[in-house]
Amino acid sequence: MTPLPTVCVIGAGSSGIAAAKALHERGFEFDCFDASDRVGGNWVFKNRNGMSSAYRSLHINTSRRRMEFSDFPMPAAYPDFPHHTHIAEYFDAYVDHFGFRDRITFETLVERVERRSGGGWDVTTDRCGTRSYDALIVANGHHWDPRWPEPAFPGRDSFAGVQIHSHHYTGEDPDFFRAKSVVVLGMGNSAMDIAVEASFVASDVYLAARRGAWVIPKYLLGRPMDSVPLSPRIPFAVRRRAQEAMLRVLVGDMERYGLPKPDHGFLEAHPTVSDDVLSRIAHGEIVPKPNIAELTERTVRFTDGSEMKADVVVYCTGYKVTFPFLDPGLISAPDNDLPLFRRVFHPDVGGVYFIGLLQPIGAIMPLAELQSDWVCDHLAGRYRLPPERELRADIEAERRAMFKRYVASKRHTMEVDFEDYVLGVRRERVRGERRAAGAGRALSAAPPVPA
Ligand SMILES: Cc1cc2nc3c(=O)[nH]c(=O)nc-3n(C[C@H](O)[C@H](O)[C@H](O)COP(=O)(O)OP(=O)(O)OC[C@H]3O[C@@H](n4cnc5c(N)ncnc54)[C@H](O)[C@@H]3O)c2cc1C
Ligand SMILES: NC(=O)c1ccc[n+]([C@@H]2O[C@H](COP(=O)([O-])OP(=O)(O)OC[C@H]3O[C@@H](n4cnc5c(N)ncnc54)[C@H](OP(=O)(O)O)[C@@H]3O)[C@@H](O)[C@H]2O)c1
Repeated sequence: MTPLPTVCVIGAGSSGIAAAKALHERGFEFDCFDASDRVGGNWVFKNRNGMSSAYRSLHINTSRRRMEFSDFPMPAAYPDFPHHTHIAEYFDAYVDHFGFRDRITFETLVERVERRSGGGWDVTTDRCGTRSYDALIVANGHHWDPRWPEPAFPGRDSFAGVQIHSHHYTGEDPDFFRAKSVVVLGMGNSAMDIAVEASFVASDVYLAARRGAWVIPKYLLGRPMDSVPLSPRIPFAVRRRAQEAMLRVLVGDMERYGLPKPDHGFLEAHPTVSDDVLSRIAHGEIVPKPNIAELTERTVRFTDGSEMKADVVVYCTGYKVTFPFLDPGLISAPDNDLPLFRRVFHPDVGGVYFIGLLQPIGAIMPLAELQSDWVCDHLAGRYRLPPERELRADIEAERRAMFKRYVASKRHTMEVDFEDYVLGVRRERVRGERRAAGAGRALSAAPPVPA
């Protein structure tokens, strides 16, 4: 019998541990490297790898039932939207429950990965030298490399106050915002959380945005808003109309709160979820503003011409998708864009798989689990990719639909609808299993062009 390919997993965050668990259970020989001393990645507050974007008060915004792995429920005592400490404990317990901690090499940074001429990969780490593998699973996360405003706002260098990116905000220093005049830029989830937090201690909080967002509460009709998924068999337009109607009835128009009217339809941007921001705006504790136009030594001027004294500016302007260990000539994501077949398989480079590199409307973890199982099938020869033309056409069709639907932004390059993605992958796996059976189930990690 042909031996199974050897595999290297980069990262032991929630995506990497999903991959490692699947490989472990399927009997693959593999290494999983993580720069940190523990699993959990982003969910380990003040992670010693310096890559966590968690702040002290962070709670998940996808409910726990949405986020948990299918075969390892979160403890019943957890609330619907647990604190980051609970989430980190949950991922840690997952590894022990399935018994693969010894397969993870901690405190080991993958520095360089090179494709070998005959297929496979040479992986160089800071502690284990260079090792060769047939296949590579990339699970290094995509919310750790801060994207500052590009280009920087005029006057950035003359501003005398503090400028910080949300990635570096920990919420630990009680005086950081106290009695200060704070400008928070962005309408994503980081901006919501940080503006709300600042609003309890700062003298003024201005929430600046270049476009509006539909702010979705965590609960609708007494249930977590993501606990009643609508079937992907219902046309998207119908699902969207139903959800938008419910939001309009229960929350109302954003303009009523003084926020800019969204320049896009509901679900045409990554969801902004907050129970608190509208209430803090209603209390006058957060004041909406348009985009920043420029900074002076002591003030921020906004695009409507208004100018406010400012001590702190928090840029909640998102993240870059980067793979510092890969040759950018081979694989990179300029402007966060990396076309992949169903967000896993690279169309030009075989033997490399991406786990968790997607932005679901819903949680990442169960999708990372699904992807991991699928990758194991591919590695074991039980699943075969479609022919190249079909594969490229599929990627193109998916991208066309995504870019057409979503607001043009570097944050909308890998959006998927949770239920639709699951259904699409399930169907594709059935087709690929038939193709594999027809091809005699050849092991498929090594060839440079995926089969
Ligand atoms: C503030 C915040 C809140 C969020 N809330 C939610 C939420 O509620 N629900 C949700 O679904 N998603 C949420 N997300 C999205 C987030 O991406 C996922 O929750 C999750 O962290 C993804 O896991 P991951 O394993 O892909 O990446 P990460 O959690 O970033 O883990 C990556 C791991 O790879 C390791 N690594 C990276 N590079 C190397 C290297 N070169 N060598 C060795 N190890 C390496 C890191 O040490 C880390 O452990 C949130 C993101 C942020 C920033
Ligand atoms: N509680 C939680 O669970 C929680 C908390 C925080 C973050 N998260 C998750 O973490 C991920 C990252 O969220 P995020 O909020 O940090 O980033 P994000 O979703 O990428 O949002 C970035 C925001 O900054 C704006 N922006 C970017 N560049 C700008 C510029 N130059 N000038 C003005 N505005 C600019 C974007 O506007 P455009 O839309 O116009 O590009 C957008 O509003 C998301 O998946 C999010 O759901 C979750």
